[in-house]
Amino acid sequence: MENIKIAILGAGTVGTGVYKLMERQKGEMIHKIGSNMEIAKILVRNKNKSREGINRELLTDDFDEILNDESISIVVEVMGGIEPAKTYIEKALRKGKHIVTANKDLMASEGHRLMEIAKENKCDILFEAAVAGAIPIIRPLKQCLAGNYITEIMGIVNGTTNFILTKMTKDGMEFDEALKMAQELGYAEADPTADIEGYDAGRKIAIMASIAFNSRVTFDDVYTEGITKITAKDIKYAKDMECDIKLLGVAKNTDTGIEVKVHPMLIPSSHPLASVNDSFNAVFVHGDAVDDAMFMGRGAGELPTASAVMGDIIDVARNIEFKCSGRIGCTCYKNIPVKSIDDTESKYFMRMQVDDRPGVLASVASVLGNTDVGIDRVIQKTKKENTAELVVITDSVIEKNFKDALAIFKGMAMIKEISSIIRVY
Ligand code: NAP
Ligand code: HSE
Repeated sequence: MENIKIAILGAGTVGTGVYKLMERQKGEMIHKIGSNMEIAKILVRNKNKSREGINRELLTDDFDEILNDESISIVVEVMGGIEPAKTYIEKALRKGKHIVTANKDLMASEGHRLMEIAKENKCDILFEAAVAGAIPIIRPLKQCLAGNYITEIMGIVNGTTNFILTKMTKDGMEFDEALKMAQELGYAEADPTADIEGYDAGRKIAIMASIAFNSRVTFDDVYTEGITKITAKDIKYAKDMECDIKLLGVAKNTDTGIEVKVHPMLIPSSHPLASVNDSFNAVFVHGDAVDDAMFMGRGAGELPTASAVMGDIIDVARNIEFKCSGRIGCTCYKNIPVKSIDDTESKYFMRMQVDDRPGVLASVASVLGNTDVGIDRVIQKTKKENTAELVVITDSVIEKNFKDALAIFKGMAMIKEISSIIRVY
């Protein structure tokens, strides 16, 4: 019996985790797959970097050594970024090698093309770790829930921002300090802008929406807003309203098209998502048959992410053993339009600094009324040196109408500042 040989592209946080799990699981493979499995090569940029616990003899900085090694049947891409990852995956697929990847940047933009190439070459391309780290969600959507019409997916899908918001809320930590901790723990992307600006969550919600609604949604379709503008005051006011602030990815399949967005949101502290803290992620799915289902687990980090990658590797190896590779490929067979953010509806929390004199509140209310923005509540928070701080909570309103109101507010001298705008669940 021949061993199944794999190559790992990348030995950073995730690559090191995969290496460790491969070592731990060595003796189990014969039982789980029906054959043994071994790492044949590991691609890195810098062979001389110190890498504790990794057999240096496996390291290479030349991808062609992997590509041209006929004995390697599975390539695990955990390098990140678009290039050269995309080119390496394409070349490997064309050589008949199966792919496991954790690369959401790539799958959210080029996933369709890569799955087509995989199909042409009867190869597997699996990417469970690309969304919500350790949490099984791609496989449940493609397989276990395949008998549903799924209408909604909503969740916390970025570990870094959830960690930061948790530390700011529970420990009163400053944003920068919490971000540094998340980076040290290996949660953050190489450039944390993708995490804190919501791009990482945007890529994950695009991938999930495509699979859930059987229609292609790419990262470019997703409206994204990050957490960089969230202040300690917003968190305090949210707490006063018995709410927590979370960065959520939301996708809905409506009668008029797909809505897909990422933004911070005030959610009641009693909502199950409010208790999802630190680097944990959680995904809610609503389907016509399953009703509501929630998946929760660690969304980032070395071993949690490696857990999802390892599950894919074992699945690919089983398919090789049973000669059924390429069984489940692209599931996007519809072409549903994606709605503009302007046509979607939300409730808003708006904190503003206004002149403290009679008639101002009436003027604010009048602008909102004239732009068809209903008011749920208005609270005057503080008064200082002729300035009053108002918090307005709107009804659920059309985004475009709310933007029209904001544009009018910007031209009104009595409104000194719009300090924050956060959507409300
Ligand atoms: P990382 O720690 O930055 O590691 C990247 C690895 O890839 C490094 O070993 C690096 O080599 C190697 N590499 C990068 N570019 C290369 C190139 N051009 N040629 C050869 N090797 C190259 O990244 P990571 O956090 O492990 O993330 C890897 C992937 O997993 C990304 O797609 C990420 O989005 C995804 N992911 C990460 C997490 C997480 O919690 N970290 C969770 C889910 C998904 P050197 O070591 O020589 O620099
Ligand atoms: N940077 C990502 C996060 C890693 O914080 O969730 C997992 O994709």
